[in-house]
Amino acid sequence: MIRIAAVGDVHLDEDVVGRFRPALEELPGSADVLLLAGDLTRHGTESEARCVAQEFGGLGVPVVTVLGNHDHQCDQVPQVVKVLEDAGITVLEGTGVVLETPGGRLGVAGVKGFGGGFAGRCASDFGEPEMKAFVRTTNESADALGRALRELDCDLLVALTHYSPVPDTLAGEPLEIYPFLGSYQLGQAIDSAPTALALHGHAHHGTERGTTPGGVRVRNVAHPVIKQAYSVFHLGDHLVG
Ligand SMILES: [Fe+2]
Repeated sequence: MIRIAAVGDVHLDEDVVGRFRPALEELPGSADVLLLAGDLTRHGTESEARCVAQEFGGLGVPVVTVLGNHDHQCDQVPQVVKVLEDAGITVLEGTGVVLETPGGRLGVAGVKGFGGGFAGRCASDFGEPEMKAFVRTTNESADALGRALRELDCDLLVALTHYSPVPDTLAGEPLEIYPFLGSYQLGQAIDSAPTALALHGHAHHGTERGTTPGGVRVRNVAHPVIKQAYSVFHLGDHLVG
């Protein structure tokens, strides 16, 4: 069994630093790894990234993250990534990592993902260049996740995204914005590998539990949804959490 702690959308700035830390200090007793599902900051500035490093750096467990759309807002992604990686946080974008845990080798493949919508109600690769560019971004992001998932050699495989791979976990959000909250292509990528669990954030008003068309368990771990510092999932033959 592998114990995975996860949270997304913590949206840190100076006024939030320290709020999560007491619970984070207890992680080594309850989890083997902490996964962050993006939107670590409010506007993606280097100074906000330093707040994230302060809050999530130096924990007793490995920390792996993807970035969210907020982390892109100020066009400082390289600086944000450097601050996080200097704090020992692994940042995934179309890439994966294998972590040795007492319960086996945990593979985590991650990508921010993008919008586009879900089957029957989605953007299509047609018409104006801007629309084609939008859908191309969606497809490239999902393709990168699928490749990263299929390449990992591990005992248990987890997909980590910011945008949602399924509509199930968006329930509670206005239907009109579903195409900006996720895309079915991410779900297809997750189903293209023996993924045991898919974690995402972004949908602050969504729902915790869902399933891909292929039967992979999906959990929305956005902080406003889980309402705690992190959720812990016990992953083995069965998923608990
Ligand atoms: Fe968010």
